[in-house]
Amino acid sequence: MKIVTIVGARPQFIKASVVSAALKPVCTELIVHTGQHYDRNMSDVFFEELSIPKPAYNLGVGSGSHGHQTGEMLMKIEDVILEEKPDVMLVYGDTNSTLAGALAASKLHIPVAHVEAGLRSYNMRMPEEQNRVLTDHISKWLFCPTQTAVDNLKKEGITAGVSVSGDVMLDSVLHFLKLAQENPSKTAIYGQLGIEPKNYRLATLHRAETTDGGLDAIICIFRAFEQLPQLVVLPIHPRTRPLAEQAIAKCGFRNIKLIDPVGYLEMLLLTSGACQVLTDSGGLQKEAWFMNVPCITLRQETEWVETLVGSWNVLAQLTTEDIYEKAMHTQVDLAAHERMPFGDGKASEKIAAALAKT
Ligand code: UD1
Ligand code: UDP
Repeated sequence: MKIVTIVGARPQFIKASVVSAALKPVCTELIVHTGQHYDRNMSDVFFEELSIPKPAYNLGVGSGSHGHQTGEMLMKIEDVILEEKPDVMLVYGDTNSTLAGALAASKLHIPVAHVEAGLRSYNMRMPEEQNRVLTDHISKWLFCPTQTAVDNLKKEGITAGVSVSGDVMLDSVLHFLKLAQENPSKTAIYGQLGIEPKNYRLATLHRAETTDGGLDAIICIFRAFEQLPQLVVLPIHPRTRPLAEQAIAKCGFRNIKLIDPVGYLEMLLLTSGACQVLTDSGGLQKEAWFMNVPCITLRQETEWVETLVGSWNVLAQLTTEDIYEKAMHTQVDLAAHERMPFGDGKASEKIAAALAKT
């Protein structure tokens, strides 16, 4: 059996690392990198550190408007499918690379397997919501991280091919956090940044809804970070970097340590060592939860509703006051963390076993 897997953005490399390892004994997998992310620290570092098989194709699509980026991917993925004639097209999550892969395959009658199916924010203005809804509706296998995702699909009339695999990001945290903790060249990150575990907060910002507000929106967020009693370490996504640099230059913020994006192993160490995470990332909200680190999500809604229980994850409006208030005064309920709705860390094996049966 031959699987073509589409990846393109940072979180997809991380998800593919564990699933590709599980697929290796049961099928032939060709990885296609769309080139959506291309900076070394947004792409190559993950392939190298996480031992992901080298992509058989890099489509070099790069950045662009949604239509241009998705359209170019669609054309180039179609060529790959015609050349490789896969039995299955495997896609992850909700990026433009996900939709392009699913659509190209569906139009050529290649069955689509969607990992992280059924997630919903119920905000159709989000590009990710459009991508995931459309992808789910043309997938044959829908691997859901949680029961909530299964229920979401049912509301849209999708029941065939749906299963709860658990969350592949839990598999990757369980596997790679230990490796990171045992690697002195990675644990050196604390010393390099001059921080001590549990005495700093970790933030990331990259979502369109955050950056669309321009410089003023970033300044509002940074004013809250500036007032927090611990340093805020901020590995900055390239989308947000120009605004973040302008905000710091304009307002002279001193409590924000802006750093380049880091590799996944260092990111796991930064997350596990933080006393709190503040983020608009989907993946990081959950990683914080997996590692018992309280999270403030800088968004109006979250797809990962399980993390909200016991205030382990709390939504904050993008205002200085709300972010500061939630960051300073949220109390977590320790007992609420005992339930594990994201599976048993073996999601990748379940997905590989299900696909191997085809
Ligand atoms: C994309 C996904 C988002 C996901 C995120 C993960 C879509 C619509 N969005 O958002 O769901 O959460 O990836 O990180 O697919 N850039 C660089 N170098 C890079 C990559 C991007 O400079 O290697 C800059 C470019 O200016 C680009 C901008 O970042 O225009 C945005 O990149 P893009 O891939 O379009 O969206 P993300 O914000 O990364
Ligand atoms: N991440 C990383 N380095 C960074 C920032 C994030 O390795 O500098 C990891 C993070 O741990 C998580 C994933 O990237 O596993 C999340 O990706 P991102 O926030 O870009 O996308 P989203 O999850 O929101 O789609």
